[in-house]
Amino acid sequence: MEALRESVDLAEFTTMHCHAVASNVVDVRSVEELVEALAWAGERSLHVRVLGGGSNVVPTSDVNGLVIVMRIQERSPCVDGDVVHVRLGAGEVWHDVVEWTVSQGWGGMENMALIPGTVGAAPMQNIGAYGVEQASIFEELECYDRQERRIVKLNAEECRFGYRESIFKHEYCERMIITSVAYRLSTSPKINASYRDVSQELTAMGVAEPTIADVMNAVVSVRRRKLPDPAEIGNSGSFFKNPVVEAATAERIRADHPDAPAYPQADGRVKLAAAWLIDQCGWKGARSGDAGVHDRQALVLVNHGTASGSDILALASAIQQSVHQRFGIMLEREVNVW
Ligand code: EPU
Repeated sequence: MEALRESVDLAEFTTMHCHAVASNVVDVRSVEELVEALAWAGERSLHVRVLGGGSNVVPTSDVNGLVIVMRIQERSPCVDGDVVHVRLGAGEVWHDVVEWTVSQGWGGMENMALIPGTVGAAPMQNIGAYGVEQASIFEELECYDRQERRIVKLNAEECRFGYRESIFKHEYCERMIITSVAYRLSTSPKINASYRDVSQELTAMGVAEPTIADVMNAVVSVRRRKLPDPAEIGNSGSFFKNPVVEAATAERIRADHPDAPAYPQADGRVKLAAAWLIDQCGWKGARSGDAGVHDRQALVLVNHGTASGSDILALASAIQQSVHQRFGIMLEREVNVW
């Protein structure tokens, strides 16, 4: 394989920028190259892992095996009345696609601007921000089934989307490799600017009747202000999920802290803000060596320089323990640990 590289430092392949050496790395730009890479690894009995933008992966040790970097590019729109079906290659950069769709006047992705990572990773994490999840615009995806050795199509139900969840984090984790994703956008979109941070930003911008471009610009401003840029400081976005707890647990916490953010769920349970819980335990801006907690968003762990994946995980465990001790809630990681 031409594009194969040996002994590659993954620091530049993940946004947390932790050093870890992969024995082999290959870029794939088509399904054919993907099949070739899998066959190459198969012949050598090498373990295979797939990386997109590396924005949700923290390696804790060297990777003995083949890392496939997904680079399949495709943008195929099909306009049908005011509906636009867009098929996207798994290697497309998510934010570039958001900017492109908004510039075309196609709504649906604007609230998810500036989420780091690639299109192929979007269904896996079921990414979301400011009141919108990718599941809400998802039509179907294509993935390579390593067991059956063919491309299969999956619809939303088969992907089992949940809050930052999908079947690709579970049963299909090793088996399926996403190659393209199709979304349903609209030329007459419904604007969703109800999330407080976004509506406040729009007000500050002096916009009363926002377009999709206004919403995208507002989201970009909020994210730039609150979240660290991985190009400047290593991070993986939200490190933990927001915990969904029994109503009684939320009430117990709200009795002591009436200001605790709490979002009632359809099933009667309540989603709490992990950032708030971590913040209450005094972690914002904390640092242990080069592993730290961002000083403007307590949910984001950062690598100030040479923190290893294990350093980051040690800090994460300390945070989990202190939140558990104080509030009786065990935070669950959102990032994938290698
Ligand atoms: N808060 C604090 N302290 C902090 C930060 C926030 O008390 O240091 C409070 C805020 O006041 C707010 C609440 O916590 O009431 C929630 O914070 P925010 O609205 O900023 O969102 P989040 O729950 O921290 C989630 C997603 C983000 C997404 C934002 C906006 C998860 C795990 N995270 O964060 O997604 O951008 O909402 O929709 O669901 C990601 O998944 O990587 C990610 C960044």
